[in-house]
Amino acid sequence: MKCVDDFRLRFGGRELVPIMIGGMGVDISTAELALEAARLGGVGHISDAMLPSVTDRLYKTRFVKEKLQQYKYNVENPDKSKVQFDLGHLAEATRLHVSRTMQAKRGEGMIFINCMEKLTMNAPRETLRVRLRGALDEGIDGITLAAGLHLGSFALIEDHPRFRDAKLGIIVSSLRALQLFLRKNAKLNRLPDFIVVEGPLAGGHLGFGMDWTQYDLRTIVAEIQRYLQAEKLDIPLIPAGGIFTGSDAVSYLETGSAAVQVATRFTVADECGIPKKVQQEYFKASEDDIEVNMLSPTGYPMRMLKNCPAIGSGIRPNCEAFGYILDANGNCSYIDAYNRELAAHPGARKISVQDKICLCTHMRNYDCWTCGHYTYRLKDTTHRNADGSYQILTAEQIFHDYQFSTDNKIALPAKA
Ligand SMILES: Cc1cc2nc3c(=O)[nH]c(=O)nc-3n(C[C@H](O)[C@H](O)[C@H](O)COP(=O)(O)O)c2cc1C
Repeated sequence: MKCVDDFRLRFGGRELVPIMIGGMGVDISTAELALEAARLGGVGHISDAMLPSVTDRLYKTRFVKEKLQQYKYNVENPDKSKVQFDLGHLAEATRLHVSRTMQAKRGEGMIFINCMEKLTMNAPRETLRVRLRGALDEGIDGITLAAGLHLGSFALIEDHPRFRDAKLGIIVSSLRALQLFLRKNAKLNRLPDFIVVEGPLAGGHLGFGMDWTQYDLRTIVAEIQRYLQAEKLDIPLIPAGGIFTGSDAVSYLETGSAAVQVATRFTVADECGIPKKVQQEYFKASEDDIEVNMLSPTGYPMRMLKNCPAIGSGIRPNCEAFGYILDANGNCSYIDAYNRELAAHPGARKISVQDKICLCTHMRNYDCWTCGHYTYRLKDTTHRNADGSYQILTAEQIFHDYQFSTDNKIALPAKA
C-alpha cells in the first residue's frame, strides 16, 4: 500500500514532497503556514490578496489609512472610478510580505505566491503587473496564477530577469481554459512549469458556473492529461479540490499527477490565519451548513459557510480604503446592490443586502467563511475537548498525515 511519501515532485533538479498547500486569501494561508510546508519539504503558498491591508496588520504599515485619507471626499459618491491604488505603495506592500517570508524560509521546500486576476483593483493590468514583479524581485520561488484566464499575465513579466527561472504555473478548471492560456502565450516561448487543475469541490471561488455539480475533478484531470500527452507537453499536473486523505492523494499520484494541492484540511491548523473562534465554526459545520452561492461580486460562484456574518450584511462599501474588486471602470456589483437597498429603504439606520457581499471588508475581517466542500469532515481529523470545542491541529500534523497515511485513514493528533 503506497503513501504520498513514495512519490516526489520533480521541479528541474529539485525533488519535493508532492504536497502543495494552496493559496488562501486574505492571509488565510499565512507566511507561517507556507513556511511550514517548505520546511517539511513541500510547497507552501502565501497569497497576494489585499496585501496593503495585510502588511498594515502584520508590519504596521499605514497603506489603508493613507488611501482612505486621500479619497475620503469620495466616500458618499457611488462613482468609485477615481479611487486608484498608489502603485508605489502596492509594490512596497508586496515586497515587504514576500521578502519577510522568503527571509524566514528554512528547509528544502518552496514558497509560491497565489495571484488572483479577479482582484482588478480599478486598474487591472497595472496593479497585476506591480504585484507579479514585486514578488519576483523579492525572490519568491514561484507564482500560481489564479482566479482568471491570465491571458496577458506572462506578458507583464516577460522582461523580468527571473521570468525563466521562477516557477510559474496556472490554476485551470477546464481543458479549454488551459488551451486558451497556452495559445495566448505560445509566442513567449515559455510554458508554465506546473498546472493546477482545480475541481468543483475546492474552497474559495470556483472556476465553474452554478452547474458545478455536473463536473468531476478526475474526469477533468484525465482529459487534460490526454491533451498534454497528445501535444507532447511534459508539464507537471497538480489536481486540487476535495483531496482529503493521503490515499485520495495517492490515487492521483499513481495515475500520473505530479503532486496534489490541498487547502481545506489546513484551515484548522494553528498556523492558518483564520481566527481560532472561526476555526471552531469550520469544525462544527455539517454538510447542510455549506453552500455554493453567487454572493461574491467577482461573478464567480464561491463556497462558504451559510452562517457567516458576511451574508446579509449591508455594510457600506469601503472602496476608498480597500477597493480590490473594482473593475477597470470603478464598478463592483456590491456597490450596485447596496445602493439599490439604500434607495429602497430611505432613512433606515441599518440595511441588509442579500444578493451580494462586500468581499473586501468581510475577507479582511475574516467574516466571509469560505471553505472547501469537505469542511464537514474536519471534525473527524481531531479530538473533541472536554468543553465541546475541537482541538486545533498543527500544520506539521496535517502535512505528515497526508504524507504518510494509507488506507484512507486519518491519524488523529496526540491529545493536547
Ligand atoms: C479558505 C479557503 C480560501 C481559499 N482562497 C483561495 C484564494 O484566495 N485563491 C485561490 O486561488 N484559491 C483559493 N482557495 C482554493 C485552494 O487554494 C485550493 O486549491 C483548494 O481549496 C483545494 O481543495 P481542498 O480545499 O478541498 O483541499 C481557497 C480555499 C480555501 C479552503
